[in-house]
Amino acid sequence: MRRFYFTLLVILAAHLGVDSRKNRRNLDVNPTEKSDVQQSMRNKLLHSYSRDDPPLPERATEVRIGFFIQDILPNVERKSLEVNFFFRQLWHDPRLAFDEEELGDESIRLSHSGSIWRPDTFFKNNRYVRSKETPSPEFLLSINATGHVWYVQSLNGEFTCPTLGEDTEDGVHHCAIYVESFGYKTDRMSLDWLSSPVDVDVDLIMSKFVLKNIKKRNCTNRQSGSFACLKILLTLQPRDQRGTTS
Ligand SMILES: *[C@@H]1O[C@H](CO)[C@@H](O)[C@H](O)[C@H]1NC(C)=O
Ligand SMILES: *[C@@H]1O[C@H](CO)[C@@H](O)[C@H](O)[C@H]1NC(C)=O
Repeated sequence: MRRFYFTLLVILAAHLGVDSRKNRRNLDVNPTEKSDVQQSMRNKLLHSYSRDDPPLPERATEVRIGFFIQDILPNVERKSLEVNFFFRQLWHDPRLAFDEEELGDESIRLSHSGSIWRPDTFFKNNRYVRSKETPSPEFLLSINATGHVWYVQSLNGEFTCPTLGEDTEDGVHHCAIYVESFGYKTDRMSLDWLSSPVDVDVDLIMSKFVLKNIKKRNCTNRQSGSFACLKILLTLQPRDQRGTTS
């Protein structure tokens, strides 16, 4: 659990430019006062806000995505990978911008992810994906003064990989995780990568495979009126073939 919060902090610090000096200054504010300000800002922002409408009325909302992979469990019998990961999404919702002065450079934290519009991204090749809810929901949703929304969820999912364990010419297996928009066509929502799109936990270890590399791919159908699609492609090499193939 401690590692989880540490990871979240690192993620936050890296992407929202949290400055330790600012944090120190905020400590001077009475904590009750601070949470009152947060509460009144939330009420103000969400007053007359429609979470059913995408942020921009005429243009596509660009959603930047990334993965922090903690654990991979390949299952040759089920031809799938079970993966524990943080799924990160960043987008701009100008309706949620606020006056920086009012909150002292802080971000607004939301504890109900359903109160604002969120991208309808889904994982096309999943058998299941669960968000971790116990003992408390593991997600982070924060809005900064310019209305950029940073959403991190801790997920556990199983993704199909039809060729896992099959004989291949080069002795390695390629397994994908597809991210696609469920209902918004590319003129309403587009997908792109975060500046650090795929990170892997340094402690990640698989008993029967070695993770050789992870590549990013664009799986958007080029036809007009299609849905944005990005995928990561994981290359796994069986452990017992190490040395004989390299
Ligand atoms: C909010 O976050 C976005 C994305 O990381 C960044 O480009 C923007 O400068 C940030 N705004 C503020 C006021 O920090
Ligand atoms: C993916 O391909 C589509 C269609 O060619 C293109 O419009 C989109 O910009 C590409 N996205 C990325 C992240 O490269």
